[in-house]
Amino acid sequence: MALTWDSRYELGHERIDAEHRIFLDLIADFGNFVNNNEPLDKLARTLKEICKYGDFHFLSEENVMVDCHYPDYEQHAKLHRQLLAQVGSKLYKLTKQQITPGEVFEFLFKWFALHTTTEDKKLVAYIQGC
Ligand SMILES: [Fe+2]
Repeated sequence: MALTWDSRYELGHERIDAEHRIFLDLIADFGNFVNNNEPLDKLARTLKEICKYGDFHFLSEENVMVDCHYPDYEQHAKLHRQLLAQVGSKLYKLTKQQITPGEVFEFLFKWFALHTTTEDKKLVAYIQGC
């Protein structure tokens, strides 16, 4: 499954879009490694990288929200924290082989696609006038 950037992820904020491209690239890497049956250790390392990058990217978005007095800041930031907790749990389950790499990939991609096209879209629409 080739995972590529799609125009529906393009929100019109240069830095957020740039960070989203990297985030999606990392998820695509994970998907390619799953398809190539790469060792569990490599998948776990990539998932850790996704988690660290997600943490950075979410803080980056949240700083923009605070600067622009975004009214849905608390709710949006909560979704970010939930995702990081979920990725941590998936990482644990992956290393214990309680979840398949394909399930982890599907979870990551669905989250990215949904969050970007709903919550982040609302955010970018608001901060355009900031
Ligand atoms: Fe977000």
